[in-house]
Amino acid sequence: MKTAWLGVFAASALLVAGYVQASPELAAKNNCVACHQVDAKLVGPSFKEIAAKYADQADEAGYLAGKIKGGSTGVWGQIPMPPNVNVSDDDAKALAEWIKTLK
Ligand code: HEC
Repeated sequence: MKTAWLGVFAASALLVAGYVQASPELAAKNNCVACHQVDAKLVGPSFKEIAAKYADQADEAGYLAGKIKGGSTGVWGQIPMPPNVNVSDDDAKALAEWIKTLK
């Protein structure tokens, strides 16, 4: 019994680790890294700056997922983000959840 619970615990720890790992890969896969870095401005703001800006906003992840898919203009400066039409809803949500954790 005790070992069975340990197994469950180990499996969920692996799942969490896998989720954390997956998001930088998602950012690479969806080409976000062409314009964004985690902690430095590139073409767009750093993901950490974005996380900090919306830290207090209710439904931060939902808002960001919408922006990721639909694009963004005029929030951070002159350069717009074109809509990322090839990003799936699941990827947009996972990316938003990940960005949220970076503050
Ligand atoms: C062609 C360059 C480019 C690509 C590719 C790109 N972005 Fe952006 N992104 C920008 C720019 C520029 C801004 C700032 C837009 C503005 O001022 O409203 C931005 C803003 C954002 C914001 C903040 C929006 C807001 O309302 O504050 C998020 C979140 C974001 N990008 C996530 C992503 C993710 C995730 C991807 C990959 C699926 C991605 N971006 C791909 C250029 C890009």
